[in-house]
Amino acid sequence: MNKVINKFEELFGSKAEFFASSPGRVDLMGSHTDYNHGYVVTMPVDLKIECAFSATEESALTLYSCNLDTFAKIDIKTGDQIEGDDWGKYVSAVAKVCLDEGHTLKAFNGAFCSTVPIGSGLSSSAALEAAVIAILGKVGGFEIDKKNSALLTQKAENKYVGVNCGILDQYSVIFGERHKVIKLDCRELTHSQVEWPSDVMVAICNTVKPRQLHGSEYDDRRRDCEAAVAVIAKDHPNVTHLRDVSIELFNEYKDKMPANAAKRAQFIIEENDRTHELQAALTKNDKAALKDVFHRSFVGARDLFQISNNEMNCMYEAMSTATGVVASRQAGAGFGGCMASLVKKDQLEAFKKDVFNKYKELTGLECQIYGVHTSQGTNIKPVEALATAEAK
Ligand code: GLA
Repeated sequence: MNKVINKFEELFGSKAEFFASSPGRVDLMGSHTDYNHGYVVTMPVDLKIECAFSATEESALTLYSCNLDTFAKIDIKTGDQIEGDDWGKYVSAVAKVCLDEGHTLKAFNGAFCSTVPIGSGLSSSAALEAAVIAILGKVGGFEIDKKNSALLTQKAENKYVGVNCGILDQYSVIFGERHKVIKLDCRELTHSQVEWPSDVMVAICNTVKPRQLHGSEYDDRRRDCEAAVAVIAKDHPNVTHLRDVSIELFNEYKDKMPANAAKRAQFIIEENDRTHELQAALTKNDKAALKDVFHRSFVGARDLFQISNNEMNCMYEAMSTATGVVASRQAGAGFGGCMASLVKKDQLEAFKKDVFNKYKELTGLECQIYGVHTSQGTNIKPVEALATAEAK
């Protein structure tokens, strides 16, 4: 029986009624393209947050994190956090957007356990937010469809947590499906499945250098992209985001842009094109093309978008020289955190060993490497159904 279900019983003295599961995600192409209304090739992964919960008649949500061994309490009338640890802010933010939408909240007790490394660029916060909105709907008796759940949890993060993220994380986590890597259109909020080669899998390499989006860098990058758009939009009012700018149009205007805006815009326009290139290379299982397109993405992220750091550069070297590697690049927002490689399935163990040793030699740090698979998006099941499924 699942660990989180036992933990719930131990903490709250009764059996949990429901079980929620919400995956992390890794992006395979399209760094920072989401808020530029572009495309991202993204994958929900089987590192996930799980929650055992039951509705209560209390006036506050009482939540426990197995990973941190801390509690948080959230008032259901106001959405305010009234007690507990900092991670409660994500729950409070989601409660507040639901209240803003006019929903009446009912309380629940919940125990959360996560295998998504926290703050490492695999959307641990989106996984938690998506689980919370699904649970609030379940116990409160209201239904929010997937697209609105993604938009509302993004709004929670923007408005109440104070991180100005795009839609990538919340969408990937909520719309995830097993056996599907998707290409997300961040303007239309639709996605399509990307064909996947049978002999290749994804390995996530954690630099163990935690990433913090609260710094100004993420917002600075967004502003640089907007500044580039503003220069072109003077003559082309139909251009509202970098998605609308071809490389030819960019070249006409780049000298009129502030230096940083030009560098960031070039990266985003090329990175967006690379999402289509990646899709074609995956369809053909063209390993040389996969390596090349991932490599250009990393070089652009390092030199033009400037979201790499020493640990990421060392990790790139370790990943690209390891046994069984097909292709390597950054993942998430950058500035540390996790990176991603495509690896030959039958050489995962050798890959892990080589990356671990080389990264340690280069940085002195002991990294973590996870071979990951696609995963179903955020979902809730009665605990009983889970027990029956496990018994089979
Ligand atoms: C973070 C943000 C996303 C996206 C990525 C970079 O994960 O939350 O919205 O911008 O960085 O692609």
